[in-house]
Amino acid sequence: MRKVAKASAPGKIHLIGEHSSVYGKPAILLAINRRVVVSVEREGSLKNLPKGKTQGAVESIQKYLHRVHKIPVEKVGIIIGSDIPVGKGLGSSAALSAALSAAFHKLYKIPFTLGSVFEAAYESERFFHGNPSGGDLAASVYGGVLWFRKETESLKLSQRIELSAKICPEFIVIDSGKPIESTKEMVSLVSKMKKKKVSAFCEEQEIVAKNLSTALIQGNKEVISRCISEAQTNLDKIGVVGSVAKNIILELKNSGVFAKISGGGGIKKGSGIIVAGISNKRKVEALCERKKWDYFYVKIENEGVRLEVI
Ligand code: MEV
Repeated sequence: MRKVAKASAPGKIHLIGEHSSVYGKPAILLAINRRVVVSVEREGSLKNLPKGKTQGAVESIQKYLHRVHKIPVEKVGIIIGSDIPVGKGLGSSAALSAALSAAFHKLYKIPFTLGSVFEAAYESERFFHGNPSGGDLAASVYGGVLWFRKETESLKLSQRIELSAKICPEFIVIDSGKPIESTKEMVSLVSKMKKKKVSAFCEEQEIVAKNLSTALIQGNKEVISRCISEAQTNLDKIGVVGSVAKNIILELKNSGVFAKISGGGGIKKGSGIIVAGISNKRKVEALCERKKWDYFYVKIENEGVRLEVI
């Protein structure tokens, strides 16, 4: 049996589908060129034993793999490296779950399929988020531009979208600040809203998602911008966007740029990352410089979870 295994997985951006995907509606996600890298070691040294939430994530994967593949639930050492900002809507927990699951597959010689890596990692996502859609995880596991839909708890569909060559695979993301609320809390907040309000939101996002998927395939920048703007308006209507993000998005809109939050959002302070500059990159960059907003570039990452050489 191997002693150490190493794997990595990318973070994500939501073009649409945050919150509505929890209710079985589609999401369009982009895997991005920022990754979590994980090494898992059997008989790991004590200083590398997982702590806090990582321990919970590891245990949920181990318990699942014990049930399905009879691996031992034993102490392991974990080393994590990451360039994905945590808690800002870029899917850092999903990337961690995917990388951990892949490393466990390698360590215990479990046949490595993306489906199997997804299933074990989903247990860890449940530990982090309570009732996840699995969308973040699908982006981390499969990579690329992804159409995702959770049909039932045991049936989650992911399909690659072929992005038109007219669309630049590089975007600007602006940091509206780390939300005080966790994704789990934001998901729970939406679940307590009036059913009618949530289902109207979900219906609207589904229509926008379909239009957006066509526009991405055809490379129709005008429609993409309109869909991004509509997705943001709908998220704002259910009240998951705080005033800092709202102001940034409004200022961008006044300059003719359409932007949206990505992920669970946040109300009390920041709402995490804002996606902008799908077109008009220079304009967004200039505005960020002038307004002193924190921003960085991200690129679509075609490769999802992968094993790394030790
Ligand atoms: C979080 O990145 C996206 C949410 O829709 C939760 C989920 O899909 O599990 C808010």
